[in-house]
Amino acid sequence: MTEQTVPSETIPAHGGRLVNPIAEGEEREALLERAGSLPAVLLSPRLISDLEMLAIGGYSPLEGFMGKEDYRRVVDEMRLAGGLVWPMPVTLPVSADEAEGLTEGTGVALQDESGRLLAVLDLQEVFLYDKRHEAEEVYRTTDDAHPGVAAVYAQGDVLLAGRVTVVNRPRHDDFPQHRLDPARTRAAFAERGWRTVVGFQTRNPVHRAHEYIQKCALETVDGLLLHPIVGETKDDDIPADVRMRCYEVLLERYYPADRVLLAVNPAAMRYAGPREAIFHALVRKNFGCTHFIVGRDHAGVGNYYGPFDAQRIFEEFGPGELGITPMFFDNTFYCHACFGMASAKTCPHDDEARVILSGTQVREMLKSGVAPPPEFTRPEVAQVLMEAMQERTTPRYAV
Ligand code: ADX
Repeated sequence: MTEQTVPSETIPAHGGRLVNPIAEGEEREALLERAGSLPAVLLSPRLISDLEMLAIGGYSPLEGFMGKEDYRRVVDEMRLAGGLVWPMPVTLPVSADEAEGLTEGTGVALQDESGRLLAVLDLQEVFLYDKRHEAEEVYRTTDDAHPGVAAVYAQGDVLLAGRVTVVNRPRHDDFPQHRLDPARTRAAFAERGWRTVVGFQTRNPVHRAHEYIQKCALETVDGLLLHPIVGETKDDDIPADVRMRCYEVLLERYYPADRVLLAVNPAAMRYAGPREAIFHALVRKNFGCTHFIVGRDHAGVGNYYGPFDAQRIFEEFGPGELGITPMFFDNTFYCHACFGMASAKTCPHDDEARVILSGTQVREMLKSGVAPPPEFTRPEVAQVLMEAMQERTTPRYAV
């Protein structure tokens, strides 16, 4: 196993050490040979995203899929068994049939859907869990119309737990220059001399409201890590490749190149609102960020969460427990009376003066080839989105 070199200027990873369970050299050769005789489990794209996050240290201090003690305490108390804050389960669910014959204390070959070996799981526990309880606690709803809850209900009934050792990283042909592991983003921050860096999570194109809060944050810190999720998202979210084109044109035209780093987060979206806001913050801490933006309805979906629940949840933790500073923003928009971007906190005018469009309105505009107003979306971004809408045969993206 390799230890990654973390520049001393950046903040420690969650739990103190950036884990990196990727086998190299002889250890890798030995595992490759051993894996041939191990029982295999095929991972879905969602699970491969989690495996990749484990591999690169994005989920530090986790070194594998959670065992019973960690799982229970995470679900009920947002803490690992040892007490460290951790809000989301990271588990390896399989069907009862797949679990049949797997014995604790042995190895399991984790493969992608084509049968390519990715990692070896050191199977420490096999256990049952209560999906409704997980949904209720983690997602605050048991409604299967919630995409995160639906994913939990659809997954296997048995959890496999144990440390993983990655032998082949998942393959990606897309955006190679933006696939920066936490060790790389940390090194990039140090090279640029950024002592404070704000992370920005997104699963959407960057509209003016997003740009505004990023730039407000950037006024007080040294750099911005624009860190879109490119793992699985809802079917009606804009696909990652289209979003990446949007980010690139936007950064080129409207951001100072020496203050922004665009890198992708290979994780999948869970839409867990408040809990996911904490999760997103801890993951960005692992990527070396000192600050993290939480705006309106962070990681929310439908009306399951109040617009600022994802900010309030930060109050549940003591000072220093998270090790990253959240930066909260109220609802932001362009205001004609202010002649600029503003928020509910800074603008005294009423809705008439404000440019506020719903996702459905923007979607309809883009579909019919009408660019949203430049107060809402930069024209270059609107252009990319309209072209993408026309390219795809079944355009039904949320924006
Ligand atoms: S998310 O699911 O990744 O949170 P999105 O990409 O839309 O969705 O949001 C990225 C970040 O911007 C989140 O912190 C969110 O709260 C914030 N945000 C999005 N739109 C607004 C807005 N109009 N006002 C304030 N914050 C916003």
